[in-house]
Amino acid sequence: MRKKIIAGNWKMNKTRDEALQFVYAVSEKLPHIDEVDSVVCAPFPLLRTLCKRQGDNLRVGAQNMHYADSGAYTGEISADMLTTLGVTYVIIGHSERRAMFNETDETVNLKVKKAFEKGLIPILCVGETLEQREKGQEKQVVKAQLEKNLEGLNKNDIEHLVIAYEPIWAIGTGRTASAAQAEEMCAYVREVVKDLYGTAADKMRVQYGGSVKVDNIKEILSMPNIDGALVGGASLKADDFVKLVEAGVKK
Ligand code: PGA
Repeated sequence: MRKKIIAGNWKMNKTRDEALQFVYAVSEKLPHIDEVDSVVCAPFPLLRTLCKRQGDNLRVGAQNMHYADSGAYTGEISADMLTTLGVTYVIIGHSERRAMFNETDETVNLKVKKAFEKGLIPILCVGETLEQREKGQEKQVVKAQLEKNLEGLNKNDIEHLVIAYEPIWAIGTGRTASAAQAEEMCAYVREVVKDLYGTAADKMRVQYGGSVKVDNIKEILSMPNIDGALVGGASLKADDFVKLVEAGVKK
């Protein structure tokens, strides 16, 4: 049985005071980490504040990192900078970064490898655009992303990897994929990874992301190949975040 992982992606939201209010509001209420993994992926300046107060049941993630160890990369953040703060996870290749910040399959691959090398767990995002879905190309697109993004990993990496299948047409649009559509694609993600890395893919966790809310998460998580959710907008409110995480507790 794969433990569910519910991760909030705050994107470019919250000041330090707002992050503190959030962490104080959720810390006593989150279910035990043996039951479900809960993560907030926050902007860089909030990571230290959150790591210091994350408590036993909450883990902290970043939303990006650079693939180099150090060097002349103005404005960038390295994996070591994250781990020394106590960060556990890092989102890699979110569609907003691919679309707006020149993230390519090659840089995503370098970042995933670097994250594992440094002891971070990558949450690798893949997913198709609306146009690609309308042309029936979603599987082809996701397969190509996975093949390039996961090149050169080992089986142990794959067992610890988290992949978020996020159809771009469902992100921030209120238009969630149906549970059946999400399951079909998450099962497909596992199948592709299985072809590449064998049974390690059975241990890997696959999240669905895209307009997940308190009122639709249960149905999504009831699907056999969906091991969690990556949640943007609905993860910003402390009460909702607690409810989203509670939905992931094993029955
Ligand atoms: P959303 O974002 O839940 O606001 O649709 C999801 C994401 O971008 O990870």
